[in-house]
Amino acid sequence: MAIRETWATRIGFILAAVGSAVGLGNIWRFPFLTAESGGAAFLVAYLFLVAVIGLPVMLVEFVIGRESKQNVVDAFPEIGAPTWKFIGAIGALAGFVILSYYSVVGGWVIQYMVGSLTGGYAGNAEAFFGSAAEGTNALAYDLLFMAIVAAIVSFGVRDGLERAAKVMIPSVVGLLVLLAAYGATLSGASEGYAYYLSPDLSTLVGDAIALLPDAAGQAFFTLSLGMGVMITYASYLGEDRNMLRDSLLIVVVDTSIAILAGLAVFPFLFAQGVDPGTGGVGTTFVGLASAFGSLPAGQVVGFVFFAMLFLAALTSAFSILEVIVSFTIDTFDVDRKPATVAIAAVIFLVGVPTAMSLDYLTLYDAIANRILLIGGGLLLAIFGGWFYASGAREELQKGMPGGETLTTAWIWILRIPVVLVLAYVLYTGIIEVAGIVAGM
Ligand code: PHE
Ligand code: NA
Repeated sequence: MAIRETWATRIGFILAAVGSAVGLGNIWRFPFLTAESGGAAFLVAYLFLVAVIGLPVMLVEFVIGRESKQNVVDAFPEIGAPTWKFIGAIGALAGFVILSYYSVVGGWVIQYMVGSLTGGYAGNAEAFFGSAAEGTNALAYDLLFMAIVAAIVSFGVRDGLERAAKVMIPSVVGLLVLLAAYGATLSGASEGYAYYLSPDLSTLVGDAIALLPDAAGQAFFTLSLGMGVMITYASYLGEDRNMLRDSLLIVVVDTSIAILAGLAVFPFLFAQGVDPGTGGVGTTFVGLASAFGSLPAGQVVGFVFFAMLFLAALTSAFSILEVIVSFTIDTFDVDRKPATVAIAAVIFLVGVPTAMSLDYLTLYDAIANRILLIGGGLLLAIFGGWFYASGAREELQKGMPGGETLTTAWIWILRIPVVLVLAYVLYTGIIEVAGIVAGM
């Protein structure tokens, strides 16, 4: 077996992990879910779950990855827990499902980049979304997006992932700040901010609890948790890193970018009089395209926005493919390039229904976020909190001398609150998905 690569620079790991986290989850999924869930109460539930559930589960992935230095599946036997290998298998399965439709949405983004330049969506945002989102256009651009992702992954960790993330992440942040600032000058800005940021305090607790399952799915999706991305990335990591500090940084950056995306999207939606509650998966695209289409320099702003979204989606998509490729290379002792091409082809085929119909896209999205990632997170919390607790503590403390109290708190948060909340969310997810299937 080849010697395992490590990150070329310290900042390389952070950038790649942030690159995985920041993506369509922040800029497409977070705004549309927040919009359709009634706004600020969803934001509150989401922020709570990111901090209380997301961060502890991310640390479990980090300790498993760094101690084992293995792919998602072999990580478990390597740290003395061979029976837990199936967590890695669920992770790989989640990767197939997520990337299969993630690349469809990535393909929409490419169509919107082109549409910005040609003026294709100006004045007919609904119709443009209709022809872009399902059918042969969606399928063709899905394939294009997938091919670009596979090309990057085939270059390997140091030359591919790290180099790409270094350029992409700073540009994403810079462009979003510009767009949010631009949005602030629009006439709908204050209405948008009110919907997005001021919860109805009299019903907040009940609303937030009702939104917990959706918010949990979003928290896992946006932080790339529950399927072993962070196991895989931490497997390339040296012993001296303070992983609590690293994970805090990743969570703060990802969350800030989601909040920033909302600050950009909601003013545009309200300036256009778009009803935020009705759009579903198309909200972000229809709302923004109709906004861009009618603004002064709209073509330029639109192109900049979608180019940025494309970059963010790429860094996330290749993290998903990397999980599966890394496992395949180690297990079957094959070369990176053929492994990457073969896996990308299978994922593309799995995603064909999601390119042909939004109903399938919604179904895959629910299976991934409400069942597979949450189930993976639940198992990781049980494993890390109960079965591997002493190993986990020791590994976390390596780069964090004197952190005994914090590690103890972490283990207990995993053991009880995280396990209980995720078990409940998984239960609601199974009911939700069964309902979607029954209604198809
Ligand atoms: N976190 C990514 C996003 O927000 C999506 C993702 C999910 C990436 C799961 C990897 C694993 O877009
Ligand atoms: Na994200």
